[in-house]
Amino acid sequence: MVESNFIINESKPLLGNVNIPGDKSITHRAIMLSSLSSDSLVISNALLAEDCLKTIASFSELGVKITHNDNNLKVCGNGLLSLTKPKKILDCGNSGTLARLMAGILSVQKFESTISGDDSLSYRPMDRIIKPLEEIGSKISSKKNLLPITFYPQTSLKPINYINDIASAQIKSCLILAALFISGKSSIYETTKTRDHTERLLEFLEYPIKVQENNITILGQGKLIARDIYIPSDFSSASFFIIAALIKPGSNLDLKNIGINKYRTGLIDVLIKMGASIKLANKRDLSNEPIADINIKYSKLKPINISGTIISRMIDELPILFIACALCEGESIISDISELRVKESDRIESMENGLRAIGIDVTSTEDSISIKGGSFKGGIIDSNHDHRIAMSFIVAGLVSQKPITVLNAKNIATSFPGFINILKKMGVEIYKV
Ligand code: S3P
Repeated sequence: MVESNFIINESKPLLGNVNIPGDKSITHRAIMLSSLSSDSLVISNALLAEDCLKTIASFSELGVKITHNDNNLKVCGNGLLSLTKPKKILDCGNSGTLARLMAGILSVQKFESTISGDDSLSYRPMDRIIKPLEEIGSKISSKKNLLPITFYPQTSLKPINYINDIASAQIKSCLILAALFISGKSSIYETTKTRDHTERLLEFLEYPIKVQENNITILGQGKLIARDIYIPSDFSSASFFIIAALIKPGSNLDLKNIGINKYRTGLIDVLIKMGASIKLANKRDLSNEPIADINIKYSKLKPINISGTIISRMIDELPILFIACALCEGESIISDISELRVKESDRIESMENGLRAIGIDVTSTEDSISIKGGSFKGGIIDSNHDHRIAMSFIVAGLVSQKPITVLNAKNIATSFPGFINILKKMGVEIYKV
């Protein structure tokens, strides 16, 4: 892999508008569900980053015709039972969402298939999906419950009845997608509610699914009606600009059409408690997802203690929150975050090492981090090939006394390929080294 390293100098305030690309979670799901729908449809404002390009390639290999023009995808669905045996291993790249969601679909097909991933994905736990899929009768082989995984042809499967006690939308969605193919009524209960994009999109495509608080019931072998899908702009990508504007004195930023699904926007609730000036306007629904325009102004933030159910509502935004905490006067403690240890990198370790390298006092336990606020002195940090760690420290560079060098940042392209160019256009001093 040819890596990208960046150096960032302290920069001027962020002003004006930023166009945030489409939502990664929803783009994956839209490609998958439209591939299974009854006819052709168009997905607009889709994210064409590396992770979602892998989803397009995988479903093309499964026999679905998918074409794109800018950020609009045309997917020619041919019905629930139309997928065909792939001729090669399906490469999920860096994407845990693709691997786990597609596992749900592949584990209930009448053909054999294998999925694989890059080095990072090959270390991420898959027992969390293999176990419930085996319980319904799927035949699966893997070494030590890691990728690559092979799924064998299926003929008889039991409806799903599963209590998901890991707060993970990927596990839930894997099982919902499997349930589409199993005749009868499946039910999935999640102990902690997580992002509900799969459920919302199924409702939008008029599929028989019922959501009652933490319980989801799905009638198998129904029909997905082809309807054009609009993808909101990605709140997780927006979060880097939200924090950038909050920590850089004099900033005033507008972000338009951002997805504000409540299971994704815990960061806003936390930042408002910390004293942030964040205003949401023009709230509306598109393709059954809530969106809004967001204005952010520089604010002096207070430290925070958080734990419990809010964590799953901001799971991907924790690294960038840690950057904000590191600049507050006082100590912030963030607990119940053990899931961060099994993301694209061990995000507790990556953030702890990176913050320490730029002069911040940090300690951690297996499932918590404590950050004593200070100022960034500059230094060299390793993002460990993790897109969100790389973008977090690039944002830190905006307010650092001396430059910050971020190593191994190529994977920014998995979720936000235009990130560096947007910063450059806004006058940020960022250079490839
Ligand atoms: C995702 C769910 C979350 C999140 C990931 C995307 C999804 O993972 O961290 O970036 O699209 O369902 P978990 O389900 O492992 O928490």
